Amino acid sequence: MNSRLAVLFLVVLASTITLVSSQSVVDFTPAERDNNICKNNPDFGPTNGLQNKNGSCSDTVQGEIPDVDHMVSSLIVEPSNGETLEANKNFTVKISTINLVTGFFDDPATQYYTFPQVVDDKTGNIFGHSHVTIQLLKSFDVAPDPKLFAFFKGLNAPEVDGLFSQEIGSATNNGLPPGLYRICTMVASFAHQPTIMPVAQRGAQDDCIRIKVVDSKKKRNTLNKKRNAKFL
Ligand SMILES: *[C@@H]1O[C@H](CO)[C@@H](O)[C@H](O)[C@H]1NC(C)=O
Ligand SMILES: *[C@@H]1O[C@H](CO)[C@@H](O)[C@H](O)[C@H]1NC(C)=O
Repeated sequence: MNSRLAVLFLVVLASTITLVSSQSVVDFTPAERDNNICKNNPDFGPTNGLQNKNGSCSDTVQGEIPDVDHMVSSLIVEPSNGETLEANKNFTVKISTINLVTGFFDDPATQYYTFPQVVDDKTGNIFGHSHVTIQLLKSFDVAPDPKLFAFFKGLNAPEVDGLFSQEIGSATNNGLPPGLYRICTMVASFAHQPTIMPVAQRGAQDDCIRIKVVDSKKKRNTLNKKRNAKFL
C-alpha cells in the first residue's frame, strides 16, 4: 500500500469512528500528511534518540503490527481499584499483561524512538516493556498535568508467572504521602513508542486504577467502620 492510500485508508477508518476527527485530518496540508514531514521541517528538529523536551520530528517508521489475536492488554491486579492504603508504607503494584514479549527496551537516553516496532515471529507478539506511573489527583474535573507524577518506573525485566511486580517507594521515602492517586500502566515497544495495534476498535492496551492513601490512624478507623458496618 503506498503512503497516500494508507492515509486515505486512515481517513476513512477515522471517519467511521468520528466525523470530527476525519474533518481535522482533511484540513492538514499535503506536506503534513506525507511521510517526508520531517525533511526541512521549520518547526521541528529531527528526533535523534534523545528525549527532547522541546519536541522533534521522527521519521522512524511504525514497523511490524501484530494481528488481532496478538493485541496487547493490561490489567492492574494489585492493589484493587478504590482500595485505601496506608501512607508512607511501601506497597506492590502487580500487573497482568498479555500478548507482549516482555524484557525488551533499548537505552532511553540515546535510543529513544530510534527503531520501529518489532513483532516476534515465534509468538506473533510485540517485543517491549511496560511502566507504572502514579499521579496525585487534585481534581475530579480536569485531567492531571502529565509532567507531574508521584512515582514512575520502567518495567524492564520480563514478567514472572505472567505478572509484572513493582514495589512503590524509594530509598528515601516509603510508599506515598496521603492523597487520592491514579495508578496507570504504560505499555511500550522495544524503542519506547506506544504499541501500535492492527485495528482501531479494540480494548485498551493499558489500565488505570484510583486509590486513596491515608495516614495509618485514619486507615484503622476506616477499616473499623467497614468491619462494624458488616457486622451490624
Ligand atoms: C530546547 O530549547 C531551548 C530554548 O530554545 C534550547 O536552549 C535548548 O538547547 C533546546 N534543547 C534541545 C535538546 O534541543
Ligand atoms: C521501599 O521501597 C524502596 C524501593 O523498592 C526500597 O528502596 C526501600 O528499601 C523500601 N523500604 C522498606 C521499608 O522496605
